[in-house]
Amino acid sequence: MPKKKSQAKKEPYKGVRDFYPEDQFVQDFIFDRARDVVEHYGYEEYNASILEPSELYAAKTSDEIVNEQTYNFVDRGNRKVTIRPEMTPTATRMISARRRELALPLRWYSIPNVFRYERPQHGRLREHWQLNCDLFGVPGVEADVEIILLAYELMRAFGASDNDFVIKLNNRQVIPETLALLAKQNGMKVTKDQQVKLVRLMDKRDKMKAAEYADLLRELLGDKLSDVVLKQYTPETIRRLIQETESGAGFLNLLDTLESRGIPNIMHDPNLVRGFDYYTGMIFEVVDTSPENPRALFGGGRYDELFELFGDDPMPAVGFGMGDVRIRDFLNSRKLVPAYISSTDVYLVVAEPESLLVAQGLAQRLRRRGVTVAVDITGRKLGDQLKTAAKKSIPFALIVGENERKTGKYQLKNLATKAQQELDEKHIADAVFETLE
Ligand code: HAM
Repeated sequence: MPKKKSQAKKEPYKGVRDFYPEDQFVQDFIFDRARDVVEHYGYEEYNASILEPSELYAAKTSDEIVNEQTYNFVDRGNRKVTIRPEMTPTATRMISARRRELALPLRWYSIPNVFRYERPQHGRLREHWQLNCDLFGVPGVEADVEIILLAYELMRAFGASDNDFVIKLNNRQVIPETLALLAKQNGMKVTKDQQVKLVRLMDKRDKMKAAEYADLLRELLGDKLSDVVLKQYTPETIRRLIQETESGAGFLNLLDTLESRGIPNIMHDPNLVRGFDYYTGMIFEVVDTSPENPRALFGGGRYDELFELFGDDPMPAVGFGMGDVRIRDFLNSRKLVPAYISSTDVYLVVAEPESLLVAQGLAQRLRRRGVTVAVDITGRKLGDQLKTAAKKSIPFALIVGENERKTGKYQLKNLATKAQQELDEKHIADAVFETLE
């Protein structure tokens, strides 16, 4: 019996994506636009390796991410290595390493791919690309405002209107302070340890049933206090309590400032906690208002104390990550992604073998003028060459045959409209640019 050939799977690894040219086109659309916006705000690009020493994530990230969601391995030199699950610790490490030389404030951005061992589902994958924007060295509310304004401007630059998304805000200091006040008003106390655990539990709330949440809350706080939290930790009560807390005034000032800067769709969400342990101040998420895409498009906050990881003093730091998976869903559902068109402007169709050399020369001269050109070198029939160009969504075909060689006049065919223009060589590039711009 002939031996059966072993076959490798054609699908990508679980939870990651292949990017065919049409997919890459959308990816480029998203990040080219994002790059344009953030650079206009003075943000400079940085980058790093996907590999990091595992210790970078141990102390201040999030139990869930470190213990359950990182890709870890031990290298041949016995070093513990983690494939980055996010960029914030990396940026902090890089700044810590050159803290004295860098000119603060720093406005940094990057577009890394990050990896989390999650159960893949709609909007949640094992690899995604994330625009990270962070502002270092400014402690005041102005930095928080700039970062949130930047997130808002990005959404507007993608074509979103104010009704399409909300920016939910909360503050990591306000949460325990309002809880403590709530307990006090009811004649009880919450310990520091309970506060920390409660924030972690609140973070997982969306992933569990209401009854399970209530049970865990009771386990943590006891019957009486958990009852108070369940009944009274509501947006209305919290908004009233905030005024009496230490950090409340600063947070309310942030909300007012954002409104006065013309961002109408901000909302205080007292249940927003965000999973990372390193946030210590303002936290926020940008959320799609459509129920079909309920997860956060952006998430961020202030994390001045992450620098302590390197034995350094805290440094003011605030920023966000915007993920490609969810922003893509958002843009698709709002029909905000442009139709695919190839990055090749012109396909040179070669009518017979004798024309190939002339076609290659013409292609080279057009490229020098900035036109992107592919030459069909297959020797196939003219009709087949034209079909290939159309199938690839190349906007133009240019035929080179005996006639064209003799007259120096070429037919530039617009493959979408089927319109045809007869041009001599020196007018081809301009005709292409005129249509494409
Ligand atoms: P994060 O909330 O984990 O924050 O991620 C930011 C964004 O990345 C999310 O809002 C979402 O769009 C996307 N995202 C996260 N996990 C996944 C996933 N498994 N699949 C698809 N998309 C995902 C951070 O990572 C922080 N380091 C952001 C930050 C920067 N904070 C301060 N500076």
